[in-house]
Amino acid sequence: MKLSFAPMEGISSYIYRSLHARFFGGVEEYFAPFIAPDGNGSFKASSLRDILPENNRDINLVPQLLVNWPEPFIHVAGELAAMGYREVNLNIGCPSATVVAKHKGSGMLLDLAGLDACLNEIFSRSVPAVSIKTRMGMETTEEFPGILEIYKKYPLKRLIIHARARSGMYKSSVDVPGFLSALGDCPWPVWYNGDIFSPSSPEELGLTEAPLAGLMLGRGAVADPALSRVLSGGPVLDVLELEAFHDALLEAYLEAGYDGRAAMARLKELWFYMLYKFPDSRRESKALLKSQNLPDYRSAASALFRSGKFSPECSFSQ
Ligand SMILES: Cc1cc2nc3c(=O)[nH]c(=O)nc-3n(C[C@H](O)[C@H](O)[C@H](O)COP(=O)(O)O)c2cc1C
Repeated sequence: MKLSFAPMEGISSYIYRSLHARFFGGVEEYFAPFIAPDGNGSFKASSLRDILPENNRDINLVPQLLVNWPEPFIHVAGELAAMGYREVNLNIGCPSATVVAKHKGSGMLLDLAGLDACLNEIFSRSVPAVSIKTRMGMETTEEFPGILEIYKKYPLKRLIIHARARSGMYKSSVDVPGFLSALGDCPWPVWYNGDIFSPSSPEELGLTEAPLAGLMLGRGAVADPALSRVLSGGPVLDVLELEAFHDALLEAYLEAGYDGRAAMARLKELWFYMLYKFPDSRRESKALLKSQNLPDYRSAASALFRSGKFSPECSFSQ
């Protein structure tokens, strides 16, 4: 089964992606965290830096857009096509209240007629191929058949389904039965996303026999960056390589111009997930998360890596 790395705003930056590919591999494609253009199609310099081809040389990247209106999508998708991207992903999944209030992300599912009109424009005018990453509904996954009826009108490059409704945020159980029963109705390649946290998750979730194009890994791959490699038949994570990956990330953020505080903040986001690999490390993890300057941070990280509390079997859980 093919594997992709989910878009993770604040986590899977170009710096993270290139080092993840170099250290661990196993991922066919990385999806960039969303670009949110304004009505004129302008967007943040940091989002541009994130998807510039020269910053993504060694990986296959699919950029993603968060919009509620076809014009900015078509405009930015054209720019992305000019950079060489052949696929642009539309975010119909983000559950954040501020995003949903603007009818973006999963908020696009609030008005299915409006969604249909938006997709109609996008699919008739977008230059690169368009794929969709979707939730299965706003309140409940039972809304999904109605949503699929709309998607089915369009030639999606692929559909990535996060098997939750927006109401479940990142916590409710994934609706695998609902996902599987929708599969037969999908004329495009379908990728599954949601709660692949360990090498046994695909089997435990009942996905191994499903006619899927691939699996998209999110939090599980952040907690265990070797998860993609293990799922591809490679060795489990070793604490020394995790330390080397962590140190390389820190240096790369500093080299890219982040000051110590901003680089530490980036790394601390990762620790929210990676600490699951260090059960019973309360004292060491507290010191790490509380560190206020780079020297303290470095010595706390080093103490944690050398604490003997790393456990390759422990996975992220919620
Ligand atoms: C911190 C964070 C940032 C995310 N950023 C994005 C994003 O930019 N675009 C997107 O489509 N999904 C985003 N997601 C959702 C993930 O791509 C993925 O769909 C979700 O985490 C479920 O997969 P998982 O259970 O394997 O983590 C984000 C999730 C988290 C936790």
